[in-house]
Amino acid sequence: MKKVTVSSPGKLMLYGEHAVVYGHPCIVTAIDQRMFLSAEKNDSGVFELNAPDVNVSNYSKPVSKIGNGEMPKGAQFVEIALKNVIRDKKISINGLKITTNSEFKSTFGFGSSSAATVCTVKALSELYSLGLSKKEIFDLAFKTVLEIQGKGSGFDVAAAIYGGTLYFVTGGKKIEELGLESLPLIIGYSGIKADTVTLIDKVSEKFKNNKKRLDEIYGEIEIIVENAKRALISKNFKQAGKLMNDNQTLLKELGVSIKKLDDMIESSLKAGAYGEKLSGAGGGDCMIALGPENKVLQIKKAIEKAGGQILEVMANAQGVRIEKL
Ligand code: PMV
Repeated sequence: MKKVTVSSPGKLMLYGEHAVVYGHPCIVTAIDQRMFLSAEKNDSGVFELNAPDVNVSNYSKPVSKIGNGEMPKGAQFVEIALKNVIRDKKISINGLKITTNSEFKSTFGFGSSSAATVCTVKALSELYSLGLSKKEIFDLAFKTVLEIQGKGSGFDVAAAIYGGTLYFVTGGKKIEELGLESLPLIIGYSGIKADTVTLIDKVSEKFKNNKKRLDEIYGEIEIIVENAKRALISKNFKQAGKLMNDNQTLLKELGVSIKKLDDMIESSLKAGAYGEKLSGAGGGDCMIALGPENKVLQIKKAIEKAGGQILEVMANAQGVRIEKL
C-alpha cells in the first residue's frame, strides 16, 4: 500500500506579532527542528492516528466519521485537516494510518499544531496525487487552524510550508521569501507555556476603551517590520537588533510580556546583545536575541542566569518536504 513520510519546520516570530492578526505584516523564520508525519493508505475502513508527542496512541475511528464526533485534543489538527482535504478535493479514503513525531516539544511555542496540519495536507496531496501548490496547501491548512483556534494570522502555517524567512501579511495576502543567507539568532525558552488565543483576547480586553492607541501601536509595529525587512536583507544586524528592542517596548505596552521574559531580555542586553524581544503571543514561550559573534557566549550565559533555557536552533530552515515515498 502507498506510503509517504513528509516533514515541516517549526517557526519563530521575529517581528510583528499581534499586529499581524489585524491586517499588518510580520516577519517569521522557519527553524531546523521539524515535525515528521508518515501516512499509509490501506483498505481497513479505519482512520488510525499515533502522535506520541501529544499523547495520542492508537486513536481510531471509521473513515466515514473523520472530523465528526469526539476527538482527543492532540488529534484535532490532523483530523480536521483530513476532513477539509477530503471535502474540498472530493477524495474518498478507504483506510489511513498516520503517525507523527516531532523533534521539538509542543510546549516551546514553535508551532507544532500548524506544522502537523501542513504535514497532513502535504501527505494527502502526495498519497492521492492532488498536486497541491504551496498556496493551496496554505489555504487548506489555514482554514483548518482557524476552524480549531478561531483566531490567528496564519504566519506559522506559512513558515511550515515555505520555510526560510518570510515577510507575511494576515491570511497569506502577501508571502515573500526574504532570501536571507544566515540569521544569527539566540533563543531562550522561559519554561512557561503560553496560549495564543488567551493572549490575543487579553490585548483586545486591555484596549477595549482605547482603540485609538491600539491602532497607533499596530501602525508603529508595521513601520518596525518594514524597517526590519530592509535591515535583515542588508545584513545590518545591529539595526535589526535595535528594531527588536523597539518592537519589545510596544509588546510591553500591549501587556503581553511577563517578568521572566523581561528578566531574560534585560540580562542579554547587559551582556552585549544588539537587541531582543519576546517571540510569539507572549505570556511565556521564547525570547530571541541578535548579538555580535564575539558576545554570543556571554549572552547565552546571561539568559541562563536569568532562568532561561538556551535552545540551539538554526533559523531560515527549509519548508515542507517529502522525506520518503
Ligand atoms: O503563540 P504563537 O507563537 O503561535 O504566536 C502568535 C502570534 C500572534 O500574532 C499573536 C497570533 C498569530 O496567529 O499571528
